[in-house]
Amino acid sequence: MRKLGFCTGLSLAFLTTVPAFAGSIMPTITGGDVNNGKALFTLCITCHQVNGEGNKSLGAPKISGQHDWYLTRQLKNFKAGIRGTHASDTNGARMRSMAMSLANDQAIDDVVAYIMTLK
Ligand code: HEC
Repeated sequence: MRKLGFCTGLSLAFLTTVPAFAGSIMPTITGGDVNNGKALFTLCITCHQVNGEGNKSLGAPKISGQHDWYLTRQLKNFKAGIRGTHASDTNGARMRSMAMSLANDQAIDDVVAYIMTLK
């Protein structure tokens, strides 16, 4: 299970590196749909709060005010099992199951586009 996650992570890293060489320095967020992202974000509010300010008692960090590329990368890392798979990482595991609910890269772009609108 952990080995599989690691391999997926490597291939993901490879896939995201190639376009970066072809064009821009950082992977850019294209076509994030804020309205769809808002709908997806209702799930995140439980832990990260309405404005993404986070909740210390749940171990959920502030995610508003962060760079879009960083948020995208972390969500992909959770999905790929690069984050949240260590046996003693309870908080990470909780967040990983949430990241798994984001069906594809478009869903990630959408939710991140919405988070970027939060103060
Ligand atoms: C069950 C509570 C919970 C829910 C719901 C939840 N998260 Fe999280 N999230 C966490 C916790 C806990 C962490 C910190 C994990 C760790 O310690 O590595 C986290 C971390 C993150 C991070 C990484 C922040 C950083 O600075 O590295 C991002 C991005 C994130 N969450 C986005 C989301 C999004 C988007 C959603 C909705 C799809 C969501 N979360 C739903 C609990 C939750």
